[in-house]
Amino acid sequence: MLDIKITKIEKKKDKPTGPLGFGQYFTDHMFMMDYEVGKGWYNARIIPYGPIPMSPASSALHYGAEIFEGMKAYHTKDGKIQLFRPYENAKRMNSSAERLCLPQLPEEDFVQAVTTLISLDKDWVPTAEGTSLYVRPFMIGDDHTLGVHGVHHAIFMVILSPVGSYYKEGLNPVSIVIEKDDVRVAGKGGTGYTKCGGNYAASTRAGKKAEEKGYSQVLWLDAVERKYIEEVGSMNVMFKINGEIVTPALVGSILPGITRKSCIQILKDNGYQVNERRISVDELMEALENGTLEEAWGTGTAAVISPIGKFVVNDKEYIVNKQQIGKVSQMLYDEITGIQSGKLKDTRDWTLEVK
Ligand code: COI
Repeated sequence: MLDIKITKIEKKKDKPTGPLGFGQYFTDHMFMMDYEVGKGWYNARIIPYGPIPMSPASSALHYGAEIFEGMKAYHTKDGKIQLFRPYENAKRMNSSAERLCLPQLPEEDFVQAVTTLISLDKDWVPTAEGTSLYVRPFMIGDDHTLGVHGVHHAIFMVILSPVGSYYKEGLNPVSIVIEKDDVRVAGKGGTGYTKCGGNYAASTRAGKKAEEKGYSQVLWLDAVERKYIEEVGSMNVMFKINGEIVTPALVGSILPGITRKSCIQILKDNGYQVNERRISVDELMEALENGTLEEAWGTGTAAVISPIGKFVVNDKEYIVNKQQIGKVSQMLYDEITGIQSGKLKDTRDWTLEVK
Protein backbone atom coordinates (compact mmCIF):
# COMPACT_ATOMS: atom_id res chain seq x y z
CA MET A 1 0.00 0.00 0.00
CA LEU A 2 1.29 3.45 -0.92
CA ASP A 3 1.92 6.12 1.67
CA ILE A 4 0.58 9.12 -0.28
CA LYS A 5 1.58 12.60 0.93
CA ILE A 6 -1.11 15.15 0.05
CA THR A 7 -0.38 18.85 -0.52
CA LYS A 8 -3.62 20.67 -1.23
CA ILE A 9 -4.06 23.57 -3.64
CA GLU A 10 -4.33 26.95 -1.85
CA LYS A 11 -7.32 28.21 -3.82
CA LYS A 12 -9.60 25.84 -5.71
CA LYS A 13 -10.03 26.64 -9.41
CA ASP A 14 -13.39 27.68 -10.88
CA LYS A 15 -15.22 24.81 -12.56
CA PRO A 16 -16.06 25.10 -16.26
CA THR A 17 -19.60 26.30 -16.90
CA GLY A 18 -20.02 25.70 -20.67
CA PRO A 19 -19.70 22.51 -22.73
CA LEU A 20 -16.85 20.33 -21.43
CA GLY A 21 -15.57 18.92 -24.73
CA PHE A 22 -12.85 16.33 -24.21
CA GLY A 23 -9.66 16.82 -22.18
CA GLN A 24 -9.80 20.60 -22.07
CA TYR A 25 -10.10 21.19 -18.33
CA PHE A 26 -8.09 19.69 -15.49
CA THR A 27 -8.91 19.33 -11.82
CA ASP A 28 -7.14 20.92 -8.83
CA HIS A 29 -4.65 18.13 -8.10
CA MET A 30 -2.49 15.45 -9.70
CA PHE A 31 -0.74 12.30 -8.48
CA MET A 32 2.98 11.79 -8.95
CA MET A 33 5.45 9.07 -7.93
CA ASP A 34 9.10 8.38 -8.79
CA TYR A 35 10.94 5.17 -9.65
CA GLU A 36 14.56 4.19 -9.67
CA VAL A 37 16.06 0.79 -10.41
CA GLY A 38 17.14 -0.80 -7.11
CA LYS A 39 14.93 1.51 -5.06
CA GLY A 40 11.51 0.83 -6.61
CA TRP A 41 8.61 3.30 -6.49
CA TYR A 42 8.95 6.11 -3.94
CA ASN A 43 7.72 9.58 -3.04
CA ALA A 44 4.01 8.98 -3.79
CA ARG A 45 2.37 12.38 -3.61
CA ILE A 46 -0.66 14.39 -4.59
CA ILE A 47 0.16 18.00 -5.40
CA PRO A 48 -1.62 20.94 -7.08
CA TYR A 49 -2.09 20.37 -10.84
CA GLY A 50 0.61 22.19 -12.79
CA PRO A 51 3.75 21.99 -14.94
CA ILE A 52 6.42 19.48 -14.00
CA PRO A 53 10.14 20.26 -14.02
CA MET A 54 11.97 18.01 -16.51
CA SER A 55 15.51 17.59 -17.67
CA PRO A 56 15.86 18.54 -21.35
CA ALA A 57 17.73 15.22 -21.70
CA SER A 58 14.81 13.11 -20.40
CA SER A 59 14.28 9.85 -22.29
CA ALA A 60 10.56 10.61 -22.48
CA LEU A 61 11.34 13.66 -24.61
CA HIS A 62 13.87 12.04 -26.93
CA TYR A 63 12.87 8.42 -27.35
CA GLY A 64 9.15 8.41 -26.61
CA ALA A 65 9.39 6.45 -23.36
CA GLU A 66 5.73 7.03 -22.54
CA ILE A 67 2.68 4.88 -21.91
CA PHE A 68 -0.78 5.86 -20.74
CA GLU A 69 -4.19 4.61 -19.78
CA GLY A 70 -7.67 6.08 -20.05
CA MET A 71 -10.60 5.37 -17.77
CA LYS A 72 -13.66 7.21 -16.50
CA ALA A 73 -15.31 7.94 -13.14
CA TYR A 74 -19.08 8.47 -13.04
CA HIS A 75 -21.62 9.93 -10.67
CA THR A 76 -24.37 7.41 -10.04
CA LYS A 77 -28.00 8.37 -9.51
CA ASP A 78 -27.70 7.54 -5.79
CA GLY A 79 -24.83 10.00 -5.35
CA LYS A 80 -21.88 7.58 -5.47
CA ILE A 81 -18.78 7.86 -7.65
CA GLN A 82 -17.62 4.76 -9.45
CA LEU A 83 -14.94 3.57 -11.84
CA PHE A 84 -15.38 1.02 -14.63
CA ARG A 85 -13.00 -1.98 -14.55
CA PRO A 86 -9.94 -0.08 -13.17
CA TYR A 87 -7.94 -3.29 -12.59
CA GLU A 88 -8.11 -3.96 -16.34
CA ASN A 89 -6.38 -0.62 -16.92
CA ALA A 90 -3.78 -1.46 -14.27
CA LYS A 91 -3.06 -4.79 -16.00
CA ARG A 92 -2.83 -3.23 -19.43
CA MET A 93 -0.48 -0.52 -18.19
CA ASN A 94 1.87 -3.22 -16.95
CA SER A 95 1.68 -4.99 -20.30
CA SER A 96 2.57 -1.71 -22.07
CA ALA A 97 5.34 -1.08 -19.50
CA GLU A 98 6.87 -4.49 -20.16
CA ARG A 99 7.08 -3.76 -23.91
CA LEU A 100 8.66 -0.34 -23.43
CA CYS A 101 11.08 -1.41 -20.66
CA LEU A 102 9.28 0.79 -18.14
CA PRO A 103 8.83 -0.50 -14.57
CA GLN A 104 5.91 -2.62 -13.38
CA LEU A 105 3.49 -0.96 -11.00
CA PRO A 106 1.50 -3.15 -8.56
CA GLU A 107 -2.18 -3.14 -9.64
CA GLU A 108 -3.30 -2.21 -6.10
CA ASP A 109 -0.99 0.84 -6.12
CA PHE A 110 -2.31 1.94 -9.52
CA VAL A 111 -5.89 1.74 -8.24
CA GLN A 112 -5.00 3.40 -4.92
CA ALA A 113 -3.35 6.35 -6.73
CA VAL A 114 -6.39 6.80 -8.97
CA THR A 115 -9.04 6.46 -6.25
CA THR A 116 -7.20 8.71 -3.76
CA LEU A 117 -6.88 11.47 -6.34
CA ILE A 118 -10.53 11.20 -7.47
CA SER A 119 -11.67 11.22 -3.87
CA LEU A 120 -9.76 14.45 -3.21
CA ASP A 121 -11.13 16.10 -6.40
CA LYS A 122 -14.58 14.51 -6.23
CA ASP A 123 -16.39 17.84 -6.64
CA TRP A 124 -15.01 17.80 -10.22
CA VAL A 125 -16.93 14.68 -11.26
CA PRO A 126 -19.61 16.18 -13.53
CA THR A 127 -23.23 15.17 -13.04
CA ALA A 128 -24.92 16.04 -16.37
CA GLU A 129 -26.10 13.18 -18.62
CA GLY A 130 -23.28 12.01 -20.92
CA THR A 131 -20.47 13.52 -18.83
CA SER A 132 -17.82 11.88 -16.66
CA LEU A 133 -14.40 12.44 -15.12
CA TYR A 134 -11.76 11.15 -17.52
CA VAL A 135 -8.79 9.67 -15.67
CA ARG A 136 -5.42 9.71 -17.42
CA PRO A 137 -2.72 7.66 -15.65
CA PHE A 138 0.62 7.74 -17.49
CA MET A 139 4.22 6.70 -17.04
CA ILE A 140 7.34 8.21 -18.54
CA GLY A 141 10.97 7.18 -18.62
CA ASP A 142 13.08 9.92 -17.08
CA ASP A 143 16.70 8.98 -17.63
CA HIS A 144 18.87 12.00 -18.24
CA THR A 145 21.17 10.56 -20.87
CA LEU A 146 21.05 10.42 -24.65
CA GLY A 147 22.07 6.77 -24.91
CA VAL A 148 19.23 4.47 -25.97
CA HIS A 149 18.82 1.98 -23.13
CA GLY A 150 16.15 0.39 -20.94
CA VAL A 151 14.65 2.76 -18.40
CA HIS A 152 16.32 3.27 -15.00
CA HIS A 153 14.30 6.25 -13.76
CA ALA A 154 10.60 6.72 -14.30
CA ILE A 155 7.67 8.84 -13.18
CA PHE A 156 4.05 7.69 -12.80
CA MET A 157 1.35 10.35 -12.81
CA VAL A 158 -2.43 10.65 -12.82
CA ILE A 159 -4.36 13.68 -14.04
CA LEU A 160 -8.13 14.14 -14.18
CA SER A 161 -10.35 15.94 -16.68
CA PRO A 162 -14.14 16.46 -16.59
CA VAL A 163 -15.39 15.52 -20.08
CA GLY A 164 -18.42 15.39 -22.34
CA SER A 165 -18.50 13.37 -25.55
CA TYR A 166 -15.28 12.61 -27.44
CA TYR A 167 -16.59 13.22 -30.95
CA LYS A 168 -18.61 16.34 -31.66
CA GLU A 169 -21.17 13.98 -33.23
CA GLY A 170 -21.79 12.38 -29.78
CA LEU A 171 -23.68 9.16 -30.47
CA ASN A 172 -24.56 10.24 -34.02
CA PRO A 173 -22.84 8.12 -36.67
CA VAL A 174 -19.40 9.34 -37.81
CA SER A 175 -17.80 9.14 -41.27
CA ILE A 176 -14.62 7.13 -41.72
CA VAL A 177 -12.03 7.15 -44.51
CA ILE A 178 -10.25 3.90 -45.32
CA GLU A 179 -6.56 4.83 -44.94
CA LYS A 180 -4.36 3.49 -47.73
CA ASP A 181 -1.07 5.36 -47.11
CA ASP A 182 -0.17 5.66 -43.43
CA VAL A 183 -0.21 2.78 -40.97
CA ARG A 184 -0.84 3.11 -37.24
CA VAL A 185 2.05 0.97 -36.06
CA ALA A 186 4.33 -1.68 -37.47
CA GLY A 187 3.28 -5.33 -37.33
CA LYS A 188 3.66 -8.22 -34.94
CA GLY A 189 6.49 -7.65 -32.46
CA GLY A 190 5.88 -3.91 -32.52
CA THR A 191 4.03 -1.73 -30.03
CA GLY A 192 0.51 -1.92 -31.51
CA TYR A 193 -0.95 -3.78 -28.54
CA THR A 194 0.38 -1.21 -26.07
CA LYS A 195 -0.98 2.17 -25.16
CA CYS A 196 2.20 4.09 -25.87
CA GLY A 197 2.23 7.70 -26.99
CA GLY A 198 4.27 6.86 -30.10
CA ASN A 199 1.39 4.84 -31.61
CA TYR A 200 -0.85 7.85 -31.35
CA ALA A 201 1.81 10.26 -32.70
CA ALA A 202 2.10 8.07 -35.81
CA SER A 203 -1.67 8.13 -36.28
CA THR A 204 -2.20 11.87 -36.29
CA ARG A 205 -1.20 12.64 -39.91
CA ALA A 206 -3.90 10.41 -41.42
CA GLY A 207 -6.45 11.60 -38.85
CA LYS A 208 -5.66 15.23 -39.68
CA LYS A 209 -6.00 14.56 -43.43
CA ALA A 210 -9.40 12.92 -42.87
CA GLU A 211 -10.60 15.82 -40.72
CA GLU A 212 -9.49 18.33 -43.37
CA LYS A 213 -11.75 16.53 -45.84
CA GLY A 214 -14.66 16.76 -43.40
CA TYR A 215 -14.53 13.18 -42.10
CA SER A 216 -14.15 12.10 -38.48
CA GLN A 217 -11.38 9.50 -38.54
CA VAL A 218 -9.71 6.73 -40.51
CA LEU A 219 -10.00 2.95 -40.68
CA TRP A 220 -6.53 1.46 -40.12
CA LEU A 221 -5.26 -1.46 -42.15
CA ASP A 222 -2.42 -3.78 -41.15
CA ALA A 223 1.11 -2.56 -41.82
CA VAL A 224 2.37 -5.71 -43.53
CA GLU A 225 -0.17 -6.63 -46.20
CA ARG A 226 -2.30 -3.47 -46.08
CA LYS A 227 -5.19 -5.85 -46.33
CA TYR A 228 -6.67 -6.55 -42.90
CA ILE A 229 -8.72 -4.13 -40.82
CA GLU A 230 -7.17 -3.29 -37.44
CA GLU A 231 -8.72 -0.29 -35.67
CA VAL A 232 -10.75 2.84 -36.33
CA GLY A 233 -9.30 6.18 -35.19
CA SER A 234 -8.14 5.49 -31.63
CA MET A 235 -10.77 2.78 -31.11
CA ASN A 236 -11.35 -0.91 -31.74
CA VAL A 237 -13.86 -1.65 -34.46
CA MET A 238 -16.80 -4.06 -34.80
CA PHE A 239 -19.08 -4.94 -37.72
CA LYS A 240 -22.37 -6.74 -38.26
CA ILE A 241 -22.11 -8.31 -41.69
CA ASN A 242 -24.98 -10.44 -42.91
CA GLY A 243 -25.99 -11.28 -39.33
CA GLU A 244 -22.46 -12.09 -38.12
CA ILE A 245 -20.84 -9.85 -35.50
CA VAL A 246 -17.12 -9.67 -36.17
CA THR A 247 -14.17 -7.79 -34.75
CA PRO A 248 -10.48 -8.01 -35.69
CA ALA A 249 -8.66 -10.67 -33.66
CA LEU A 250 -5.94 -9.38 -31.31
CA VAL A 251 -2.98 -10.27 -33.49
CA GLY A 252 -0.34 -8.19 -31.66
CA SER A 253 -0.72 -4.92 -33.52
CA ILE A 254 -4.19 -4.17 -32.10
CA LEU A 255 -4.96 -2.62 -28.71
CA PRO A 256 -6.78 -5.03 -26.35
CA GLY A 257 -9.52 -2.51 -25.56
CA ILE A 258 -11.39 -2.77 -22.27
CA THR A 259 -14.57 -1.49 -23.94
CA ARG A 260 -13.96 -4.06 -26.71
CA LYS A 261 -13.68 -6.84 -24.13
CA SER A 262 -16.79 -5.59 -22.30
CA CYS A 263 -18.79 -5.41 -25.57
CA ILE A 264 -17.85 -8.99 -26.45
CA GLN A 265 -18.98 -10.17 -23.01
CA ILE A 266 -22.27 -8.23 -23.18
CA LEU A 267 -22.97 -9.50 -26.70
CA LYS A 268 -22.35 -13.09 -25.66
CA ASP A 269 -24.49 -12.67 -22.52
CA ASN A 270 -27.28 -11.37 -24.77
CA GLY A 271 -27.14 -14.43 -27.00
CA TYR A 272 -25.12 -12.97 -29.88
CA GLN A 273 -22.26 -14.91 -31.38
CA VAL A 274 -19.12 -12.78 -31.75
CA ASN A 275 -16.30 -13.86 -34.03
CA GLU A 276 -12.83 -12.49 -33.39
CA ARG A 277 -11.06 -13.06 -36.68
CA ARG A 278 -9.18 -11.32 -39.44
CA ILE A 279 -11.43 -9.17 -41.63
CA SER A 280 -10.04 -8.02 -44.94
CA VAL A 281 -10.82 -4.67 -46.48
CA ASP A 282 -12.04 -6.62 -49.55
CA GLU A 283 -14.62 -8.35 -47.37
CA LEU A 284 -15.76 -4.97 -46.05
CA MET A 285 -15.88 -3.53 -49.59
CA GLU A 286 -17.98 -6.45 -50.78
CA ALA A 287 -20.38 -5.97 -47.86
CA LEU A 288 -20.59 -2.25 -48.64
CA GLU A 289 -21.21 -2.91 -52.34
CA ASN A 290 -23.88 -5.58 -51.84
CA GLY A 291 -25.54 -3.96 -48.82
CA THR A 292 -24.80 -6.73 -46.30
CA LEU A 293 -22.96 -4.45 -43.88
CA GLU A 294 -25.75 -3.94 -41.38
CA GLU A 295 -23.83 -1.98 -38.73
CA ALA A 296 -20.32 -0.81 -37.89
CA TRP A 297 -19.10 0.87 -34.72
CA GLY A 298 -15.98 1.84 -32.82
CA THR A 299 -15.45 0.95 -29.16
CA GLY A 300 -13.19 2.86 -26.77
CA THR A 301 -13.06 4.46 -23.35
CA ALA A 302 -13.37 8.02 -24.58
CA ALA A 303 -16.29 7.61 -27.01
CA VAL A 304 -17.67 4.34 -25.47
CA ILE A 305 -19.56 3.36 -28.68
CA SER A 306 -19.22 5.39 -31.86
CA PRO A 307 -21.53 4.23 -34.67
CA ILE A 308 -20.11 4.52 -38.18
CA GLY A 309 -22.57 5.99 -40.69
CA LYS A 310 -20.32 6.33 -43.71
CA PHE A 311 -17.15 4.77 -45.16
CA VAL A 312 -15.12 6.64 -47.77
CA VAL A 313 -12.86 4.75 -50.19
CA ASN A 314 -10.98 6.58 -52.95
CA ASP A 315 -13.40 9.51 -52.52
CA LYS A 316 -16.42 7.24 -53.04
CA GLU A 317 -18.88 7.33 -50.13
CA TYR A 318 -20.81 4.32 -48.83
CA ILE A 319 -23.66 4.90 -46.38
CA VAL A 320 -24.12 2.39 -43.55
CA ASN A 321 -27.54 1.68 -41.99
CA LYS A 322 -29.04 4.89 -43.46
CA GLN A 323 -26.58 6.78 -41.23
CA GLN A 324 -28.65 5.78 -38.20
CA ILE A 325 -27.40 4.17 -35.01
CA GLY A 326 -28.07 0.42 -35.31
CA LYS A 327 -29.83 -1.92 -32.90
CA VAL A 328 -26.65 -3.64 -31.69
CA SER A 329 -24.63 -0.42 -31.25
CA GLN A 330 -27.53 1.15 -29.33
CA MET A 331 -27.87 -1.91 -27.08
CA LEU A 332 -24.14 -1.87 -26.30
CA TYR A 333 -24.13 1.86 -25.61
CA ASP A 334 -27.15 1.58 -23.31
CA GLU A 335 -25.74 -1.42 -21.41
CA ILE A 336 -22.24 -0.04 -20.93
CA THR A 337 -23.22 3.53 -20.03
CA GLY A 338 -26.05 2.08 -17.90
CA ILE A 339 -23.58 0.07 -15.83
CA GLN A 340 -21.07 2.93 -15.71
CA SER A 341 -23.62 5.45 -14.49
CA GLY A 342 -25.31 3.05 -12.08
CA LYS A 343 -28.65 3.10 -13.96
CA LEU A 344 -28.28 -0.64 -14.59
CA LYS A 345 -27.32 -3.26 -12.04
CA ASP A 346 -23.67 -4.29 -12.30
CA THR A 347 -24.08 -8.07 -12.38
CA ARG A 348 -20.48 -8.73 -13.49
CA ASP A 349 -18.62 -6.89 -10.72
CA TRP A 350 -17.18 -4.38 -13.19
CA THR A 351 -17.55 -1.21 -11.11
CA LEU A 352 -15.53 0.01 -8.16
CA GLU A 353 -16.88 2.65 -5.82
CA VAL A 354 -14.57 5.56 -5.02
CA LYS A 355 -15.10 6.41 -1.35
C1 COI B 1 -9.87 5.43 -25.97
O1 COI B 1 -10.99 5.83 -26.24
O2 COI B 1 -9.73 4.30 -25.48
C2 COI B 1 -8.68 6.26 -26.15
O3 COI B 1 -7.63 5.79 -25.89
C3 COI B 1 -8.84 7.63 -26.64
C4 COI B 1 -7.73 8.54 -26.23
C5 COI B 1 -6.53 8.36 -27.06
C6 COI B 1 -8.22 9.95 -26.23
